Amino acid sequence: MGKAQKVVLAYSGGVDTSVCIPYLKKEYGVEEVIAFAADLGQGDELDAIKRKAISAGASDSIVGDLVKPFIEDFAFPAIRANALYQGKYPLSTALARPLIARKLVEIARELNADGVAHGCTGKGNDQVRFDVTIGALAPDLKLITPAREWGMSREETIAYGEKFGIVPPVSKKNPYSIDLNLLGRSVEAGPLEDPFEIPSEDVFDITSSILHAPDEPEMVDVLFENGNPVAINDQKLDPVSIIKKANSLAGKHGFGRLDIIEDRVVGIKSREIYETPGLLLLIRAHQELESLTLPADLLNTKFKLERQWADLVYQGFWFSPLKEALDGFINCSQKQVNGTVKIRLLKGNADVVGRKSKNNSLYISDMSTYGVEDKFNHKSAEGFIYVWGLPSRIWSWINKSKN
Ligand code: ARG
Repeated sequence: MGKAQKVVLAYSGGVDTSVCIPYLKKEYGVEEVIAFAADLGQGDELDAIKRKAISAGASDSIVGDLVKPFIEDFAFPAIRANALYQGKYPLSTALARPLIARKLVEIARELNADGVAHGCTGKGNDQVRFDVTIGALAPDLKLITPAREWGMSREETIAYGEKFGIVPPVSKKNPYSIDLNLLGRSVEAGPLEDPFEIPSEDVFDITSSILHAPDEPEMVDVLFENGNPVAINDQKLDPVSIIKKANSLAGKHGFGRLDIIEDRVVGIKSREIYETPGLLLLIRAHQELESLTLPADLLNTKFKLERQWADLVYQGFWFSPLKEALDGFINCSQKQVNGTVKIRLLKGNADVVGRKSKNNSLYISDMSTYGVEDKFNHKSAEGFIYVWGLPSRIWSWINKSKN
């Protein structure tokens, strides 16, 4: 691949991506670096980030507000899919990557750039997600990944940046590596690298410690339409506001903390702490509403495909034929997922305590009751079980007597 002249760089304002700017120009002979920073609701000072890119030598610095598509087009499908990687992690970081990569490609097209770049290192999942997405959307664009190639230590990176006026972070650096967006926080490294080390309270930021969470329980009603959360406690809210509201309610009660060992795409096990209060709350409520409104065979099949959906998203295949086909299945399954789930928040727990669906509940009291209203025909159970258990009895007749 020849040299790229004009490159759009995914920019976060951190040391690595800042150093990428002079590095791309000097070591890769790139003429113009355009920095792109995504607003995903992380609450960064985006104007400051914008200026920082320019002072590091970017010819232009673009900030894109991606909060709405992030929630509507990435978080909501994940809720409909009950997506939990390895049964635990709700993909709060992973979901942002295909969106950033898609925007990077869009900007490159608009500006007639011939390349894109990111500052991910070679050990994480994010490089995989960026590279795979960019390859799927724009296989012709040159992809440059300086931080994966430069082989500099943190100190060397800072020293390199200082030559170009990039000021290292002044505050005494906290030991953690943190990724933050509206769906949650991911925290790793520092003392957390010992998987037996109890995370100290300074790891957390958007959820209360259960020691300080209210002593009184709080009930939360989540209303879903076609599998999408649309109201909390009878208040209709747009998707972004729903996530914010769910975050603050669940976070206040200390719900949504995870401490897990997960398997990265590159074969490494890592220990990560997550705070994803709203997303976990909404997934839990959604799962429960599906239990009420979907038949058993559909639930079982969906359960297996959900796992695969989460794997694909974790592993970088948001834009892939299999993911698209699974979306078709999942979306088709959601028409009847309408109703309300009541959750009790208390001291780090979010327990389902009620569910209802006016038009789609498959729970028929006349069938399930043990009272006098019982409409279930007990006699037909006998014939059913005769047939149901026939293979087991035949097996025993033929084989057990010979042992
Ligand atoms: N392990 C998570 C993922 O792959 C989060 C990665 C970023 N974490 C961080 N602490 N910087 O999606």
